Amino acid sequence: MKVSFKLICILILLVQTCSTCGRRIKCPFQYLYHFGDGVTDIGNSIRVFPWGPSNPAARYPYGTTYPGVPTGRWSDGLIDFDYSWLPHVIPFLSMNALNASKSYDGVIFSVARSPVLDTTFFRTKHVTIPSYAVSLQKQLSWFKTYLTSVCSTTQDCANRLRKSLILMGDIEGNDIGYPLAQGKSIAKVKSYVPFVIRAIIKATTELINMGATLIIIPGNSPIGCYPYILTALRTNDPTAYDDLGCLKNVNDLILSKNNDLQNAIKGLNRRFPNVNIIFGNFYNGVIDILREASTDSERSMALKACCGIGGKYNYNSERFCGSPGVPVCHNPEKYIFWDGLHFTQEAYDRIEYDLIQPALKTLNCTRRITSNFM
Ligand SMILES: *[C@@H]1O[C@H](CO)[C@@H](O)[C@H](O)[C@H]1NC(C)=O
Ligand SMILES: *[C@@H]1O[C@H](CO)[C@@H](O)[C@H](O)[C@H]1NC(C)=O
Repeated sequence: MKVSFKLICILILLVQTCSTCGRRIKCPFQYLYHFGDGVTDIGNSIRVFPWGPSNPAARYPYGTTYPGVPTGRWSDGLIDFDYSWLPHVIPFLSMNALNASKSYDGVIFSVARSPVLDTTFFRTKHVTIPSYAVSLQKQLSWFKTYLTSVCSTTQDCANRLRKSLILMGDIEGNDIGYPLAQGKSIAKVKSYVPFVIRAIIKATTELINMGATLIIIPGNSPIGCYPYILTALRTNDPTAYDDLGCLKNVNDLILSKNNDLQNAIKGLNRRFPNVNIIFGNFYNGVIDILREASTDSERSMALKACCGIGGKYNYNSERFCGSPGVPVCHNPEKYIFWDGLHFTQEAYDRIEYDLIQPALKTLNCTRRITSNFM
C-alpha cells in the first residue's frame, strides 16, 4: 500500500512538473469552455462585482501553498482544471474591452458557490444563495457574449464550437448542498432534481444547436462526504454513515441524481447521434480518492477541513476559512478538503492523475514526441 502510494506521488509529481511542458499534449480540439462552480473556478468569483472582491478566496490563506498569494482559486494552490494541457486558459471575468477579442485556448465561466438554477427558483423555496453566485443560464449568456467578440456569423461561431471541448459541470452540487445545509429535507431537495436536470440538458442542447460536438458532463461529487454537509447534518445515529464516514442519505441522493442525469444524457445521445456527449463520473473519482486517503496513516484527516475551526470536521459556516482567527493546518498536503467545501491542491493533484489524465486519453489527446516551441 505504502509503495504504491509513493509511486502515485512520483507520477503526480511528473504530471505536475509537466504543467510547464503542457504543450507537449496534443488534443483533437482547439478550444475549451467550462461552466461550473468552485471546483473549476480559476478567478471569476472574486471578480463578480460588487461582492466578489471580499470573497474568502481573495484573501490569505487562499493560494498559500502555491503561488503564495490569493489567485481567486478556492484552494491552497492550483486546482485540477488548471488545464496544464492547454497554454492560454483564462477566467472570463479577467477579460476587458481591450483583450476580449483575443482568441484564448480556453475560457472558464465557472463561478464558485454557483448553482444551476437561478436565484428566483431558490427564493421561492426560501433557500439563500450567495449574492455573487452566477447560475448556469447566466454563465451561458456570458459565453454568448464572449462568442460575439471572437466570431461574427452563426456559421463562423459554429465552426469554432465544432473545434471545442465543452465541460458542463460539475455545478449542480450547490443546488443540493445549499438547501440541505439550510435544513431542507432530503425528500424536499429530491423534488428540485428534475428542474436541475432539465436546466443542464437545456443549456447543453443550446450549445449543441450552436455547433458544439464534444461535451463532457461530469455529474456530481459525493457531497455527503464534505465537511460542510457533515457538519450541517450531523447525527448521533451511527447507521447514517458509510464505511468512509460519509452521510449515506445525501450520497444516495447524489447517486440517484447522477443516474437521472445519465439517463437524460442518453436521451441527448439519441437525439444528436453525431454529437459526442460523455458522462464523466466525478462521483466515483472522488470516492476513490477518499478511500485511498482513509487507508493512509492520516485517516482522521480525510474528512476534516485544513483551513477552518470547530467540531469533528473542523468546519463552522460562521467562521469560514479566511476569517480572522481561523487557523490553517501546517500540512495541507495531508488533507483532501481545504475549506470544507473545496479541495486542497494535493487532492486536485490526485483528481488530475485519476480523472483528468484518463479523460484526456478518452478524448484522444496524445503526448507529442518532439517538443516544438509554438
Ligand atoms: C486584460 O487586460 C487587463 C488590463 O490590462 C489585465 O489586467 C488582464 O489580465 C487581461 N486579461 C487577459 C485575459 O489577458
Ligand atoms: C477517439 O478515437 C476513436 C478511434 O478513432 C473514436 O472512435 C472516438 O470517437 C474518438 N473519441 C473522441 C472523443 O473523439
